[in-house]
Amino acid sequence: MRLLVTGGAGFIGANFVHQTVTRRPGVQVTVLDKLTYAGNRASLASIADRIEFVHGDIADTALVDRLVGGVDAVVHFAAESHNDNSLADPWPFIQTNIVGTYSLLQAVRRHQVRYHHISTDEVYGDLALDDPTAFSEVTPYNPSSPYSASKASSDMLVRSWVRSFGVRATLSNCSNNYGPFQHVEKFIPRQITNLIDDVRPRLYGAGHQVRDWIHVDDHNSAVWEILDRGRIGQTYLIGADGERDNKSVVQFILEAFGRDRDDFDHVTDRPGHDLRYAIDSTLLRTELGWEPEYRDFRKGLDATIEWYRDNESWWRPQKDATERAYVSAGEKVL
Ligand code: NAD
Ligand code: TYD
Repeated sequence: MRLLVTGGAGFIGANFVHQTVTRRPGVQVTVLDKLTYAGNRASLASIADRIEFVHGDIADTALVDRLVGGVDAVVHFAAESHNDNSLADPWPFIQTNIVGTYSLLQAVRRHQVRYHHISTDEVYGDLALDDPTAFSEVTPYNPSSPYSASKASSDMLVRSWVRSFGVRATLSNCSNNYGPFQHVEKFIPRQITNLIDDVRPRLYGAGHQVRDWIHVDDHNSAVWEILDRGRIGQTYLIGADGERDNKSVVQFILEAFGRDRDDFDHVTDRPGHDLRYAIDSTLLRTELGWEPEYRDFRKGLDATIEWYRDNESWWRPQKDATERAYVSAGEKVL
């Protein structure tokens, strides 16, 4: 099988490529990545001789057409992925997440290539803390930020290309991922690398928001199940029953560093901050038999902390610029 992986130098895409090379040595992987601030070739360095890497933009229709014409399937991870950045400047989110997805859809349509679309649970908006339900495949879309609205738009394009043009696509909407190779702008790596630098973790507002954490390897094993056996046109929600509020996550990380549980700062809250995400992954589990391997969040978090301690040369070059961007966006200790 020849597989094109867009965004393979980013967090989830790089972990997907590692998992594929390890578990499915017969798959020939080509990565297409623009290497934005979020892409890092170092994430693929240890397997560089086992994959093909193409530096380019998913919105480059001629390049995309040529690459898609040479593969059996496409898994589309490439995106602008950070909510805070989408509030500071929405344009790259429109261009990459919507126009870029359009360019891929036209190519898979032309070449009749199988396509899997990676998306987020954030397209569904947020839930009240005491809501007994969770997001499912039939929850209406209700995105809150330019990021989630651009992902919702791209999902809608995929659905319409299935119905109108017979494209063989599946979609998955996953909850918040954690694990190795995640950019230091994101919540968990930001706090871990702050603590390595002896800087206090930073919690937006009161920290009562809830995210449904899943280890990135579990996300990617679910993507493979869907690629193998998913129904064309179907959306699958991916989640591992990992709901935690942000304050508890910061406190787990502080404990792992042997620090006092209250040794963190409250900082300016995110405008429009979604309160709670929660996934009901019954369809994925019952129809495709998928189960997560990481069931103990603290163990997964400890392994992630160890990875950031052991791989400082990977994240260090981004750390100062990331923190400066938060300051210039107006983040202040409350
Ligand atoms: P990331 O920001 O770490 O990586 C994105 C990658 O895409 C980078 O390598 C970047 O260089 C590349 N890229 C950006 N624009 C591009 C373009 N125009 N052309 C080619 N490459 C481009 O993101 P991530 O966290 O790995 O997220 C991957 C996908 O998973 C996204 O579609 C995101 O919406 C989705 N998702 C993420 C999470 C999460 O918790 N991080 C949860 C659910 C879904
Ligand atoms: P993030 O990793 O940006 O993911 P998302 O916005 O997609 O959920 O943030 C996860 C949660 O952590 C979110 O509620 C915002 C919060 N957060 C902080 O409290 N402090 C931080 O420094 C960051 C980056 C995020």
